[in-house]
Amino acid sequence: MKKSIGVKSLIYPNPVLVVCTYDAAGKANAATLAWGGIASSGPAALSIAVQPPRYTYAALMSRKAFTVNLTPAKYAAEADYFGLVSGRDVDKFAATGLTPVKSDLVDAPLIAEFPYSLECVVKHTLDLGMHTLFIGEIKDVKAEGEASDIWSDFELLTFDAGSREYRAPGKAIAKAFESGKKFIA
Ligand SMILES: Cc1cc2nc3c(=O)[nH]c(=O)nc-3n(C[C@H](O)[C@H](O)[C@H](O)COP(=O)(O)O)c2cc1C
Repeated sequence: MKKSIGVKSLIYPNPVLVVCTYDAAGKANAATLAWGGIASSGPAALSIAVQPPRYTYAALMSRKAFTVNLTPAKYAAEADYFGLVSGRDVDKFAATGLTPVKSDLVDAPLIAEFPYSLECVVKHTLDLGMHTLFIGEIKDVKAEGEASDIWSDFELLTFDAGSREYRAPGKAIAKAFESGKKFIA
């Protein structure tokens, strides 16, 4: 018998998305987002929910483009770091050693080491309160491996917003808002 556990922004599995943008000066930035997912298949579109204070928010508003990079579990600490500090203050790619690569289609970078990236242009925004929803039309997907077998070697990092732990489906593997601190000088 199910019982009420209250109003929660909680779903499982919840992939850890790393959203990449360029700032006004052309510096590549990466921010970790838990709130996002596929929104439509015709046109192919996804949604991401971004709080206005984020540096990423300003970049989304001005460049109207972003990439969503699915996070392999082995990059849990890097993704956590991307969610702990702001591109307003630091160069997150320089700090982690990950590689931004300019998309050939949209005005945003991909992460070379992450094997699955969606290239998007901003089509709509919707102010929901704490977050603004950005609807991005998917212009292309860049993936390693065969299109028919992308996921068999992909150990996806997911986020449990209840316990604030990262999971590589099944087991908790790192502390959220904690494990990335090793990159903070
Ligand atoms: C696991 C995790 C999930 C997060 N999810 C979101 C989210 O869905 N939306 C959001 O606006 N911020 C989210 N954040 C916070 C941003 O990643 C964080 O504020 C980051 O510093 C923003 O970087 P920026 O200022 O360079 O854009 C999340 C952080 C973590 C660690």
